[in-house]
Amino acid sequence: MSHAFRIVASKPGGVDVLREQTFEPVAPAAGEILIRQTAVGVNFLDVYFRTGLYPWPVDQNLALGSEAAGTVDAIGDGVDNFSVGDRVAYTVANGAYSTHRTIPAAQVVHVPDDVSDTDAAASTLKGLTARYLLHDSFEVRSGHTVLFHAAAGGVGLIAGQWLKAKGATVIGTAGGPAKCALAAENGYDHVIDYGSEDFVERVAELTGGAGVDVVYDSVGHDTVPGSLKCLKTHGTLVSFGQSSGPVEGFKITDLAAGSFHLTRPTLFHFAADRTWLENAANELFSLIGSGSLKISVNQTFPLKEAAKAHEALEARKTTGCTVLVP
Ligand SMILES: NC(=O)c1ccc[n+]([C@@H]2O[C@H](COP(=O)([O-])OP(=O)(O)OC[C@H]3O[C@@H](n4cnc5c(N)ncnc54)[C@H](OP(=O)(O)O)[C@@H]3O)[C@@H](O)[C@H]2O)c1
Repeated sequence: MSHAFRIVASKPGGVDVLREQTFEPVAPAAGEILIRQTAVGVNFLDVYFRTGLYPWPVDQNLALGSEAAGTVDAIGDGVDNFSVGDRVAYTVANGAYSTHRTIPAAQVVHVPDDVSDTDAAASTLKGLTARYLLHDSFEVRSGHTVLFHAAAGGVGLIAGQWLKAKGATVIGTAGGPAKCALAAENGYDHVIDYGSEDFVERVAELTGGAGVDVVYDSVGHDTVPGSLKCLKTHGTLVSFGQSSGPVEGFKITDLAAGSFHLTRPTLFHFAADRTWLENAANELFSLIGSGSLKISVNQTFPLKEAAKAHEALEARKTTGCTVLVP
């Protein structure tokens, strides 16, 4: 076995808690496969776990990372849908910042020839998130007007292209002119620089005072109060993250301002359904393979330098997707 290592957080904290840990990959048990990983996606979720914002599932040494791609190295008994040498990807909470991964085959999907390992590692979590946000949490249809925050981020650039293909009018927000320009190249009809403009006022102008059908809000603390003000009557707020911090002071009666709908979804509840996972991954990878959906991997770091990737993501210095290379 080649030198195997993973990046773990020794305790909740800053990037200084990240450590390299060597280990002996576990031979796959029944129903499992061993993957030799070639690319690992970085997500804001990894920051939430590292800082302790999300409760730790272990006492110490939490291996971070929730999406990766690679090649099947070994298969356990009873696994009949994968063979040694297959190219695969997965998204499950934690354990992905690693050179090797032993994992239940039920959590893994095939990667087609026309999708690179890098794109698969960058998009399995983020692209499947865009899939459920736009199809399952709220079914976006042609003619809908949508507000999507953090439009130049990993999920944001994928969602913009997908929303445009669905025929929606897509309004994005992003921090600074360069990010706004990038979002505009990725499906957004209008991009508001929420660092220098009042996005509530701008959305009102852009919609003639009507508001939007749905707001996708992953920024949380800094945006949710304004997001509710951007909705039309009976509109839907999909709150799916908190990159600026947890939402404070929200009351159920806030929804009475427009008989609003609210949902707070998590990808892993969708991906746990094998039929959903296979259908959604097929759809995602078909769009990528055909060139209809571009995955922008704009930052790449060696796996050993995961701390630098976290620093860049938390400092809002990244755009699109970030990938670690084992
Ligand atoms: N619930 C789910 O199933 C699910 C799944 C995937 C992702 N998510 C969430 O979706 C969001 C996007 O994830 P991602 O991995 O693609 O990250 P990302 O969008 O690439 O990065 C987060 C972005 O949030 C914006 N932001 C606003 N305020 C911030 C602050 N105070 N600190 C840091 N960033 C801030 C920044 O963009 P600007 O500079 O343009 O503001 C930053 O680039 C995250 O909140 C993540 O947790 C949720």
